[in-house]
Amino acid sequence: MEDFTLVIFGITGNLAQVKLIPALYDMTASHLLPEGIQIIGTARSPMEKQQFRDYIAGVLNKENRHHRHPIEKTIASRLISRMHYLNGHLDDPAFYEKLNVQLKKLAGQKQNLIFYLATYPELYEVIFKNIQKSELNTPAKGFTRLMIEKPIGFNRVSSHRLNQLLLKYFSEKQIFRLDHYLGKEAMQNILTFRFGNGVFEPLMHRHFIDNIQVMAAEDFGIGGRGGYYDSMGALRDVGQNHLLQMLALATMDAPAQFTNEAVTHERLKILRSLKPLPGSLVLGQYHGYTQEDKVAPNSETNTFFAFQTEIQTPRYGGVPVYIRGGKMLAQWVTEIAITFKNPSNRLFKHLDCGEEPNVLIYRIQPNEGIVLKILTKMPEHDFKLDVSYMQYCYPQNASAHAYPDPYVRLLYDAIRGDQTFFNDAGEIDAEWKFIDALAKNSPKPVIYQPGSWGPKEAGYTIQKSGRCWQEPSLQFCNF
Ligand code: BG6
Repeated sequence: MEDFTLVIFGITGNLAQVKLIPALYDMTASHLLPEGIQIIGTARSPMEKQQFRDYIAGVLNKENRHHRHPIEKTIASRLISRMHYLNGHLDDPAFYEKLNVQLKKLAGQKQNLIFYLATYPELYEVIFKNIQKSELNTPAKGFTRLMIEKPIGFNRVSSHRLNQLLLKYFSEKQIFRLDHYLGKEAMQNILTFRFGNGVFEPLMHRHFIDNIQVMAAEDFGIGGRGGYYDSMGALRDVGQNHLLQMLALATMDAPAQFTNEAVTHERLKILRSLKPLPGSLVLGQYHGYTQEDKVAPNSETNTFFAFQTEIQTPRYGGVPVYIRGGKMLAQWVTEIAITFKNPSNRLFKHLDCGEEPNVLIYRIQPNEGIVLKILTKMPEHDFKLDVSYMQYCYPQNASAHAYPDPYVRLLYDAIRGDQTFFNDAGEIDAEWKFIDALAKNSPKPVIYQPGSWGPKEAGYTIQKSGRCWQEPSLQFCNF
């Protein structure tokens, strides 16, 4: 692996603290970074060298839901010894001169560069302009890549503008648009499960599927990110991206090959075929949201959404897809549940739970796994049925990461120049086209109680069809 310099704009922000710095620690521990890597973190406030080191160590030792394993001092020190801090205002050209000097000092004239935008979108343009002015987007020798987080824009128009801006300064090959759900191990395993095996794929058809549900529920709130969140809301924060990508991976056709172009093409086909049903959209806001830091006291931002859609293809046409997500809900659980139709000739339908449908669940988190809900016979003389789960569960290891964190995975892919699990401009456009049409007459959010499953109105559409939301079971992959 070639040496490179990673520049993180916004090293003191939430993203850097919660995701990037822990990921860099894991990569150091697993030797996924080249020996000669240099990391420059930037932010506004001045910080002495020791202060910066203490800051990184403090971040690593903070409680973190996705990074629970103990921090080893020697690994942390190895990472910290490669990290440097540069303060300044991102709209000040003098800052980029300083950056250039530092880059030359650290890596000489030959440079591979990855810029990570972990800062406010309002600053992107000025960053790009200055990068270009300093000729950092076209180094004489080496690669330059740009990593940029979802959401790309706020709607279709603004995402076009941002994509055009990106393409003015960088080529598509240099742009790594991150939706970290695509880097989750349990998400990537969907592709193996579906296309690496032969038996399940034929069942992914409207003849056999009754409905598909996609859900990302969180049992916590906005965690001090009021400034960002209040301008976005749940639908744009995760609905436009993570949930649509979950649906795309679970339903896309088999790619012709396992390449970036072929996989992206299939995801895109699903995103483009989604039917917006604005009448089904229910928005909610948790009670107490307006008292959160940096949230407007009269805010009408949604922290919950639920809607129905349909994949308008010959394969899935007519199968209802129900999607919901939000904060401060009853449980932290992310999954895709595919409920199969009940054939009319089921032998034991007269017995207790004899008509329970089979459900295929891709559990993305927690207790990650792929499970199939089936009926089995209770081991006794009479015929009695039991609901059981055939399951593949990830190994759990409390003292170490049993599998890579999505940010590790995606940073590693970006270092190798592999864009398979990144979004291209077309996908972003298709996602926004769908969300804009769905939310064109956005209903006012209904207040719901923290710890509930959101407003009761979220159940109306699905109940009208005689179905109900799949209750996320915690009966499998439990250790
Ligand atoms: C981020 C959203 O993209 O994803 C957060 O901005 C959300 O609001 C988070 O909590 C969920 O990611 P994960 O990996 O914790 O499920």
